[in-house]
Amino acid sequence: MAPRKLAAGNWKMNGDLAALSQIDALITARPDPGCDVLICPPALLIQPMKARIGAHPIALGGQDCHARAFGAHTGDIAAVQLKDAGADYVILGHSERREYHKEFDVLVNAKAKAALTAGLKPIVCVGETLAQREGGQTDKIVGDQIAGSLAGLDNNQLKDMVIAYEPVWAIGTGKTATPEQAQEMHAFIRSEITESHGEDVAKAIRIQYGGSVKPANARELLSLPDVDGALVGGASLEVRSFTEIITNTLN
Ligand code: PGA
Repeated sequence: MAPRKLAAGNWKMNGDLAALSQIDALITARPDPGCDVLICPPALLIQPMKARIGAHPIALGGQDCHARAFGAHTGDIAAVQLKDAGADYVILGHSERREYHKEFDVLVNAKAKAALTAGLKPIVCVGETLAQREGGQTDKIVGDQIAGSLAGLDNNQLKDMVIAYEPVWAIGTGKTATPEQAQEMHAFIRSEITESHGEDVAKAIRIQYGGSVKPANARELLSLPDVDGALVGGASLEVRSFTEIITNTLN
């Protein structure tokens, strides 16, 4: 059976307490979303959002965590602290973390292990730059990111995880992968996981597409056979566009 789709909003470094009203609007717009809905706000907003969400079916996630459970790491957040605040997921290895914080697969792997230990579902982001795509290196780059980020994780851990394929050239640029490019990469990622962890795990794991997902392109992208949801940046900041995307994940 295909996994339940996941529509996730990555707010990045946007939003404040006043933006909590977005949650009320989201609940009103889609009281029964029909797919899993996740918001990853700035970490400070997780706890007040959780209080606002109550029993409604909207999950919360962090945008990063530290690989260690506690200690002298000024400015960092531990996975267990995200869990304590009300998160169920955490985005790891986003291309903005890889680029601006020089994160690499070994670190993403350590963070994924910390997240799983804390009871969080990691969303591991992978994707190639434009230069890598044009240089014919896409499969190698994404294959290495998958292998490095998932190293040492067992089948049960993997089934709980999410992979987000986010071509770097499509993030925040208004350019999206064509349906052919997206399907090709999602099928490639699934085949890599089949090889490393077997078919059952590869079928169970959710592979989201991310990169300029908008209401206008969501239906086409989200109906592709190997696309199990969307990781949405800019268009998740407005309830109206995020709700439209949620609606389009249901087909
Ligand atoms: P975008 O961001 O939808 O604004 O392109 C996606 C992401 O970075 O997860």
